[in-house]
Amino acid sequence: MSATHTPPAAADNFAADHPPFDLDVCIVGTGRVGLPLGLSFLEAGVAVTGVDVDAALREAVNTGRMPFHEPGYEALIASRRFVVHADPAVVARARAIVITVGTPLHNHIETDLRQIQRVLESVAPHLRRGHLVCLRSTVAPGTTHFVERWLHRHTDFKVGRDLLLAFCPERIAEGKAYEEIRSLPQIVGAEDAESQEAAAVLFGRLAPEIMRTNFVSAELVKLFNNIARYVHFALANQFALIADTHGANIHEIRHMANHHYPRNHIAAPGLTAGTCLRKDFGMINEWSPYPDLLLSAWKMNEYIPAFLVQHLRQRTPLQDRRVAMLGYSFKADTDDVRDSLAPKLYRYLERETPLEIRVSDGNLADPTPAESGTAPLRNWPLDEALAEVDCVFVATNHREYGPALQRLALTRPHAWVADIWNVGGIDQIFYQAGALLR
Ligand SMILES: NC(=O)c1ccc[n+]([C@@H]2O[C@H](COP(=O)([O-])OP(=O)(O)OC[C@H]3O[C@@H](n4cnc5c(N)ncnc54)[C@H](O)[C@@H]3O)[C@@H](O)[C@H]2O)c1
Repeated sequence: MSATHTPPAAADNFAADHPPFDLDVCIVGTGRVGLPLGLSFLEAGVAVTGVDVDAALREAVNTGRMPFHEPGYEALIASRRFVVHADPAVVARARAIVITVGTPLHNHIETDLRQIQRVLESVAPHLRRGHLVCLRSTVAPGTTHFVERWLHRHTDFKVGRDLLLAFCPERIAEGKAYEEIRSLPQIVGAEDAESQEAAAVLFGRLAPEIMRTNFVSAELVKLFNNIARYVHFALANQFALIADTHGANIHEIRHMANHHYPRNHIAAPGLTAGTCLRKDFGMINEWSPYPDLLLSAWKMNEYIPAFLVQHLRQRTPLQDRRVAMLGYSFKADTDDVRDSLAPKLYRYLERETPLEIRVSDGNLADPTPAESGTAPLRNWPLDEALAEVDCVFVATNHREYGPALQRLALTRPHAWVADIWNVGGIDQIFYQAGALLR
């Protein structure tokens, strides 16, 4: 496609010629990253608006409700001063366009860039001379260069002459956006001084510190942050398996290894996945043909659901038994199920042909959202899920599960528990509920 606007005079210094933008920022894609960012800009006194293709999300935000769990923004969203539009033409009013759409993986080891491509197509006709375009979605190395090429191919604007372009990754953890947007250093990647300065000024409205670099290094900062965590947790999971092989207790070993020892910190085992950690490793591997450490980490983390099912089955049969699965989202105290390993655990449990599998997750609606090939499931109230149950799998470490297992211990002391998160607090992965009373 080709934009319809008139090209600016070449070699003009556009920095000296600001068009009359009446907004500072337009966030394109106001999901779990874009909405907290927009609300934080609002709180910082930035004139900000949003664009999103999701009508239900727009309806929620524009009537003062958070469409998902992200604490800290209650008053800001209720003020209705952050408005999300359907029409991308609104970007023409804002000096900066921040793109925060999703970047999932295809089924191959390949980033699905369709959301970014559609944003570029929808925004291009409304681009104006002097616009700053900030890509903030997590992307594979080289993607911001692709955006630059796309703009040169499909518009009459040139980056560094008519448009400014930067990659400024989002590094918040879900559930902590309100604090972290204000406290984390912001990385600004750009290839020309004016783009870098404009993006630094913009994110300087929020962040205590700005670190400047080029496109690819900024892309890699984000990926390395996430992949380091993914590998760190894979190592913790591998240690849990090794300890189990030797009949040893990973929690006890971990406690002693970490206690007053200054040189490393071994993480707790768990179901490690989620929309960022799992997919971001794929973005790196897209560009590497060799088997490597990252693929091993992937295999390790992906194996944990099978490990839990196999090892509980060694202790008690699962066939024809009543099984509860506590937690369905990918991590504690979130309502996000994207790339969660819990649906995979559910499917492995189904293969054991139990009488019933009762899924319970108080952070989610009933039925649960469909995820990775598993249809919506009945979401049981916690105590109903545990009534008359034979086995319990703790798939997510939501805070209410420790007390719930204590109640189970009183009513069903012989029920078996697979508790990789140690929510029972007795430093064992597999135990009978009665052990919680000792
Ligand atoms: N969720 C996190 O905690 C987190 C943290 C850091 C980085 N990231 C990265 O940020 C990016 C966004 O993630 P997210 O969790 O916010 O995803 P999300 O799916 O919650 O939000 C993306 C939003 O973009 C909208 N959208 C899609 N196409 C659009 C279009 N053409 N025009 C306008 N809006 C469009 C969607 O409707 C959705 O509301 C991803 O690259 C992700 O990896 C996410």
